[in-house]
Amino acid sequence: MAQKMKKGVVRDSKKKTTKKTDVSKVSVTKKTAVKKTPVANVSQEEVLLQALRGMRDILPDEQPYWERVRKVLSHAAQEYGFQRIDTPLVEFVHLFTRSIGNQTDIVEKEMYTFQTRGGDKVALRPEFTAGIARAFIEHGMGVLPKPVKLFSVGPVYRYDRPQEGRYREFWQGNFDMFGESDPILDAQTIQLAYRVVQQLGLKNIEFQVNSIGVPDSRREYTKALLRYLEAQRGKLCQNCRDRLVTNPMRVLDCKEDKCIQLTTHAPQSLDYLDQESRDHFKRLLEYLDELELPYTINTRLVRGLDYYTKTVFEIWSSDKEGKKYSLGGGGRYDGLIESLGGEPTPAIGFGLGLDRIILEMKRTQVKPYQEAKPKVFLAQLGDMAKKKSLRLFSELEKNGILLAESFGRGSLKSQLRVANRLGVEVTIIVGQKEALDDTAILKDMVSGTQETVTHERLVDAVKKILKSNQLLQG
Ligand code: HAM
Repeated sequence: MAQKMKKGVVRDSKKKTTKKTDVSKVSVTKKTAVKKTPVANVSQEEVLLQALRGMRDILPDEQPYWERVRKVLSHAAQEYGFQRIDTPLVEFVHLFTRSIGNQTDIVEKEMYTFQTRGGDKVALRPEFTAGIARAFIEHGMGVLPKPVKLFSVGPVYRYDRPQEGRYREFWQGNFDMFGESDPILDAQTIQLAYRVVQQLGLKNIEFQVNSIGVPDSRREYTKALLRYLEAQRGKLCQNCRDRLVTNPMRVLDCKEDKCIQLTTHAPQSLDYLDQESRDHFKRLLEYLDELELPYTINTRLVRGLDYYTKTVFEIWSSDKEGKKYSLGGGGRYDGLIESLGGEPTPAIGFGLGLDRIILEMKRTQVKPYQEAKPKVFLAQLGDMAKKKSLRLFSELEKNGILLAESFGRGSLKSQLRVANRLGVEVTIIVGQKEALDDTAILKDMVSGTQETVTHERLVDAVKKILKSNQLLQG
């Protein structure tokens, strides 16, 4: 099945002469349509049988990677005392503009916003933290024992230019802690992020940390940065010239060579920290050293969301040849809850980009999750046997025996072929005679022996064979 689906994708993409169509932007023409199915009597519009640009199906073939990531995330969440929270995919636009910042790329260019039939202005969540902060306030979680630790996993949406590792719908694993300002929490957060990437088998990972202080110290810093950048305005890319007006700190994040060179000697946020932020950062580094967690201080690290204060960090794949990805990022956001109308509540957290983590797992040949394989196959012949087999299947399954069947196939030969292909250890055969006698033939595929047992004895007999095979295999 997977093979066929892959072929379909190749065939579709060959048909296109240019980039994948951005369905949200263009009207459907013959040239861009992949396959057209008229919607009878409803409208004249045609259905494009392709996912929206920057969005994709995660097919069964890829699911074992996702399963491994989900398992590691929820295990880590449990170990560190995080509780799961699920918030809606859609929130009021203002929640995001207020939290992430009006003049950030996410809010200015990347949000999927729309008006509901009731007139509410809403947006698909471009990240988790704003929605979680809203839920924290709405449900009065400030009274819970601190820190309140919340974990989420799910899709988020950003209307960015798609490319490998950058999607418009992508998945994040998100951890946030509320109510503690001690830098030991920052260290513990980084330790947790480190733990997750390690448990996922990822190597060559780099942790970068920085401190951007609090709004007051940042104001001083931004002034100094602006003075420096204004003096070289002509050498900046157009985007960065715009950023001088909207968000000068983002110039430090620009990927253009000329801007990178120009900002190498720009003032650094660490030199403008207030005393408290400076002590906080110093203690964080001491804790990281104590934990022997490898990190580098990246003085250019500013992050793309405005809510951060003090500590910021990012997790990077550090492959020398391949493309470098930011696999996750986070930091402290001590002012967010108060700015949304809650009680002053310090907080810290991070989000992992799961699509990128999976790309990195594949690139470095990390094994995906292996489903337990069935060791038993149940074959049947004739109508009566089929009925009885259905009951036997549920009986065996209830007793913890993982088994496969091929009830849709009539011929015993073709069923046994399936059993062989699966490499099972035991095949149970219920023929017409066995169906009448309430018995079944048990074939031990390892030793080649077979016996007939009654339905009452079946579960025990199967377990016995599996156990002796296990002993044989050591
Ligand atoms: P962020 O750095 O914007 O942080 O996103 C976290 C991660 O999501 C990135 O490091 C990257 O791996 C992944 N990511 C971002 N954009 C894309 C994309 N277009 N396609 C694929 N992956 C992408 C946040 O979202 C913060 N809310 C994290 C946080 C939680 N801070 C505190 N708590």
